Amino acid sequence: MSTPAALSAVIPGFRRVTGRKMLPSAGGASFEAWTGGRQATSISTNDGADALPFQRWHRFKEAFSPELIEQAVQESPIPVRRLADPFGGSGTTALTCQFLGIEPVTIEVNPFLADLIAAKLATYHIPELLSALTRVARKATASHSRGAALIRSLPPTFVEPGVKDRWLFDLPVLIQIARLRAAVEEEANPAVLRLFRVLLGGLMVGFSNAAVSGKGRRYRTNWEERRVDPSCVLPTFADAVAAAIVEIGACATRAMREGKVLHGDSRKLLETVGKVDQITCSPPYPNSFDYTDVYNVELWMLGYLTSFDGNRELRQSTLSSHVQISRDFAEAPRCPRLDRTMRALRRAEETLWDPRIPAMVGAYFADLKGMLHTCAQLLPSKAQAWFVVGDSQYAGIHVQVAKILADLAPSAGLKVERTTPFRSMRVSPQQSGRHMLSEDLVVFSRP
Ligand SMILES: C[S@@+](CC[C@H](N)C(=O)[O-])C[C@H]1O[C@@H](n2cnc3c(N)ncnc32)[C@H](O)[C@@H]1O
Repeated sequence: MSTPAALSAVIPGFRRVTGRKMLPSAGGASFEAWTGGRQATSISTNDGADALPFQRWHRFKEAFSPELIEQAVQESPIPVRRLADPFGGSGTTALTCQFLGIEPVTIEVNPFLADLIAAKLATYHIPELLSALTRVARKATASHSRGAALIRSLPPTFVEPGVKDRWLFDLPVLIQIARLRAAVEEEANPAVLRLFRVLLGGLMVGFSNAAVSGKGRRYRTNWEERRVDPSCVLPTFADAVAAAIVEIGACATRAMREGKVLHGDSRKLLETVGKVDQITCSPPYPNSFDYTDVYNVELWMLGYLTSFDGNRELRQSTLSSHVQISRDFAEAPRCPRLDRTMRALRRAEETLWDPRIPAMVGAYFADLKGMLHTCAQLLPSKAQAWFVVGDSQYAGIHVQVAKILADLAPSAGLKVERTTPFRSMRVSPQQSGRHMLSEDLVVFSRP
């Protein structure tokens, strides 16, 4: 078995960067131990949850808090033994279920995120992880690769000299990442390989000249002056793996070790998950935040995407919540409130920043109505589905997502138990930036 001393001999700077204990402590596997018994400021948002073990492997701003799942389970009128989340994201639902002793089943369309969730749910042998880290570090350090294969597989904007004097990765940094990635990809155990790959993914934006915010991905201010030190790549990775190993060890005895992650489009896959006692999820909001674009750095750099066709295919598989891609939008379902919204949007078509917005909004509700219908098939009588949704606004026209879903629910076979406003979101600057949009929890039940 490798030790921290053995690792720091292989990775110069490793100890300096980590400063962490390598040996896992016992007894941290209850839900309360995981969350540190914290008082979440709001159960709707990720407020502080990205500092929790596992959740800090990759910053995911749009996650909801584990306490939301705990509350859903506590309030369920029937015992919850199996729970589904058709929009997995960072895996909050699935991981929380494991801590609560519930079998999770999660669907996620983004292959990097699907792997991230699976890596959080998996069981590992700690000595094997330590040996693998030492092996990977040795191979990466000994490599003389100039990253040619990785560079060939990437769009030209990714690496220096880039396009129009802009690039996401400086060449010396990319070479270090390429060496590390090649060493990771040689790992024989698929679970170890996946874990190391997603942990590298969690560092990727930090190694790049871009930053990600709630509005999307953009170049950092003064990125031309800020150079990433290529010699940091390996020690930073080793530090992330070491920290993850500590967390994995401390939480190894959580109440449920099973859990299924389905990679693909939940509009098609949800009906295949079988009977569940509860569904909790937060679908993308119809606000044109394009998750595929935001995760492009990880998707291309880790080899999940290797062609523009693959990129297009992935975008086609996502919920109709954005207009960044031309696609066939499904027809809007009918209810008076949505009819009114659709008429107003079509009247305002000339002033919208993209003429496809009315079709996208209609298709968004067609997608979600289909999902509600499938939820009704999967849930037993009295069981609940918790949906966290957010409103949108285009050219001053308010798209009241929670209210429209509540109107559509009865024809999809669900009853609305309650709608609880969670918080207000500021509308985008294109739409004045002033008015506040509501984010709501809608609790449906199967009659
Ligand atoms: C708001 S995030 C979910 C966040 C999650 N609740 C958490 O706590 O991390 C929505 C997720 O839905 C995923 N998604 C979008 N369209 C999808 C589809 N058709 N099938 C499955 N997942 C999809 C996105 O990739 C994104 O990760």
